[in-house]
Amino acid sequence: MKRPFVVAVASEKGGVGKTTIATNLAVYLKALHEDLPVTIASFDNHFSVDQMFALGPQPEGNVANLLEGCPIEELAVLGQYGVQYVASSQRLQPPGHDPAWLRQRVSASKLEGILILDTRPILDWFTEAALLTADLVLVPVKDRAALINAGSLRKIMADAGRAEKVWLLPSLVDARARLNAEVRVYEFLVYGARERDYQVLDICISKSPKVEGLASGFSSRIWPVLTHARNTSVHGQFKKLAEFVLSNSATETFEDRSDSCGEGGLAGLPAARRRKLILECPLCCQQSLHADGHFFFDLSSRRRGFLHPDCCDQLFAELELDVVTSEEILALTIEGLGLVGPESRLTAHLFDADETLVASEDLGKEKSRVHNTLPMIIGRPLDAAYRELVIINCQAMSPAEQMGDDLYRRFASRRRKIARELRLAGFF
Ligand SMILES: Nc1ncnc2c1ncn2[C@@H]1O[C@H](COP(=O)(O)OP(=O)(O)OP(=O)(O)O)[C@@H](O)[C@H]1O
Ligand SMILES: [Mg+2]
Repeated sequence: MKRPFVVAVASEKGGVGKTTIATNLAVYLKALHEDLPVTIASFDNHFSVDQMFALGPQPEGNVANLLEGCPIEELAVLGQYGVQYVASSQRLQPPGHDPAWLRQRVSASKLEGILILDTRPILDWFTEAALLTADLVLVPVKDRAALINAGSLRKIMADAGRAEKVWLLPSLVDARARLNAEVRVYEFLVYGARERDYQVLDICISKSPKVEGLASGFSSRIWPVLTHARNTSVHGQFKKLAEFVLSNSATETFEDRSDSCGEGGLAGLPAARRRKLILECPLCCQQSLHADGHFFFDLSSRRRGFLHPDCCDQLFAELELDVVTSEEILALTIEGLGLVGPESRLTAHLFDADETLVASEDLGKEKSRVHNTLPMIIGRPLDAAYRELVIINCQAMSPAEQMGDDLYRRFASRRRKIARELRLAGFF
């Protein structure tokens, strides 16, 4: 079984929005991807996670039991919005082990999907353990002090050989605030971060009085942006952040995974064919190289992998295009800059066994399963996409067979013909 993809939200600076980001990210991930198990745990003692997700009676275990060695899947309980949460604890004592111990515990657990870890505003045992466990570290920065503080988090990740997992996320940014007449605070943060050689997300979480109000009422509940502040810019920002996390979680490839050598008879493939071969089905994020699946290929990123037959059926069921024979191929094109420009569009095209275009269907810009899945196939949010072509085989077959010489070459030749035809028709 595959370990969960772990996202840590960390900053030594207090009040930069860590908990708000961690909790809302969980809600948005679930909203975008209802089949994906999403779990959250916090090493903070503010109980904000419990205040947002508690449902039913107080869980028996909490995060302190995790540190005593209790398996995380036994502590996670189903909470509001379909998110699983591990109850928080008032007093956490660092266990005697090295902080890297947590990574081993999580890797050995039966938890699946995405695990989000909220941390304290200090670089203690818990924060270090969360960092070392993480496959992606989001560091909210709202000012220069937070930017400078990020250095110690990066050092821990760099020492572990994982500096590239760290992403700065401008947070609590007042869109109008300026350092001077020319420079806005946001631009200063991005400039300062890039100058220090950080990866910075091109998403920022704006400061919004409405979002602030969600956690500061007299109620003991904390409400998510998704349900109570949808009309703010922060809503779109969290959606983009969740898309970024989803596409990141789906980027682990056959080559990244050192223990995958025996997987599905694929170990002997030429390196060029193994490269960018995604291990999971982008729809359900579960392993997809062990059983029959629908081969997909993204022309610009060269990412390739397999959709589970059930997942692919759900995708096809949303289309008006009717797949009649398994010899057909479905192509998805995005024209223009992401789906943001007025002229941009997402279109599905069905090709028959001779690569002749049977029909095309405009999928518009509305949110659908296809829109939600594409970021995970192409490896970046739709807004960052530009002229994409994704090709999906309508026939499910074993990965070893599909990746074998004959069928792989046949698919590559079909793919080239389809790309040529769509280009001539002006579709991407
Ligand atoms: N986008 C936002 N707009 C306005 N207020 C926000 C926003 N995000 C968070 N806040 C508010 O800022 C304060 C700090 O946020 P939060 O608790 O998420 O930060 P934190 O980094 O987790 O803090 P700590 O370091 O104490 O754990 C809270 O009052 C929260 O409601
Ligand atoms: Mg917090």
